[in-house]
Amino acid sequence: MADLTPKQKEVMDCFIKEKPKIIAASGAKRAGKTFVLILLFLILIARYENKGLSFIIGGSTQASIRRNVLNDMEVILSKELKLDKTNAVTVFGNRVYCFDGANADAWKKARGFTSAGAFLNEGTALHDMFVKEVISRCSYPGAQILLDTNPENPAHPVKEDYIDKDGQVLSNGRLNIRAFHFTLFDNIFLDPEYVESIVASTPTGMYTDRDIYGLWVAAEGVIYKDFNKDIHYISSEEVAKKNFVHYYAGVDWGYEHPGAIVVLGEDDKGDTYLLEEHSKQHEEIDYWVDVAKNVKERYGNIFFYCDSARPEHVRRFRREGLKAMNADKSVLAGIEEIARRFKLKKLYVVIDNVELFKKEIFLYVWNEKTGEPVKEWDNVLDALRYAIYTRNKKDIITGKRR
Ligand SMILES: Nc1ncnc2c1ncn2[C@@H]1O[C@H](COP(=O)(O)OP(=O)(O)OP(=O)(O)O)[C@@H](O)[C@H]1O
Ligand SMILES: [Mg+2]
Repeated sequence: MADLTPKQKEVMDCFIKEKPKIIAASGAKRAGKTFVLILLFLILIARYENKGLSFIIGGSTQASIRRNVLNDMEVILSKELKLDKTNAVTVFGNRVYCFDGANADAWKKARGFTSAGAFLNEGTALHDMFVKEVISRCSYPGAQILLDTNPENPAHPVKEDYIDKDGQVLSNGRLNIRAFHFTLFDNIFLDPEYVESIVASTPTGMYTDRDIYGLWVAAEGVIYKDFNKDIHYISSEEVAKKNFVHYYAGVDWGYEHPGAIVVLGEDDKGDTYLLEEHSKQHEEIDYWVDVAKNVKERYGNIFFYCDSARPEHVRRFRREGLKAMNADKSVLAGIEEIARRFKLKKLYVVIDNVELFKKEIFLYVWNEKTGEPVKEWDNVLDALRYAIYTRNKKDIITGKRR
């Protein structure tokens, strides 16, 4: 069997000796949570070899189950796991059913099942009803539930209902829940250089607390904590010396709130510069067409990554001969990418060409209750996020960033 990290050994020992009904592993990304739970899940299935029982794997989508669970399981078993029409596969003479559990009605898929065990992958990405239904389906004697998750808001049901109930004992004396906390540093098999680069590039605040230290912290305070006016502002004289290889723009429509267009430049070192901000309140689409055409005259036929909330404006830009496309508006992933670039000193702002940016960068804050940004002081920053995230999305998702 594979070598385990000390933290993974703790989980394994608990599984074998204490046999809790539920084991929850929460914590940092890449910490080794899923890996050890896959091993435990296979041990569990093997205990009931050839009994023809049912087991459940729950993940947010079929694709994420494949990526996070089945692929590693195939490696461990040295066997291809091909799902049949019912999204099930036979392992050690038992049936393992894969359910996607992200949506409100997902729980219905697990209804009527009797299961001897379940693996719930990325607990916070699953619908709460689905998690509860799967757990209640695990009614076969000795059934166990394994759940892994990254931390989120401390009020999340996964934390309150399972993690916080660590050590809970059932009336028959059986241990009900054991929760384990993982940090990035628990995965001693990761290359130290890789760990160092992850630490160096993870934004300060919530992202570091959650992704590196595995803590359930609320998002609070200023969003771009790594922005430093002494580091990230650059003058137009200095920026004139850079060798730009690519220009593009971001657009956030607005009327009551200011609308904003930002122009970005990427230099031959892979650094990005916010070259120009155009922000204004109470302007109609004709005004923004003029701004964009003027940008096009000076920078060439560049892409405008636009807020998709006003499709008629995007169409109008296209009719005017502008290369407008809908932006990817994923909020947390986009913010993380901008924050990461500030932390790595790979994003700069030309101080004499921005105005509203100077306010927004310090006033753009998290709503602690929702874990989302407060929708204020976000106009220029949204345009910036749409542009940078959409342009780099493919590389970000595949881990091949520029
Ligand atoms: N004991 C081990 N031996 C060899 N490789 C391991 C071991 N534990 C984990 N790994 C590898 O380390 C990487 C991260 O582990 P894993 O996917 O389990 O982390 P995770 O905590 O589930 O992370 P995430 O929160 O990002 O899903 C994976 O590539 C995994 O195969
Ligand atoms: Mg995982």
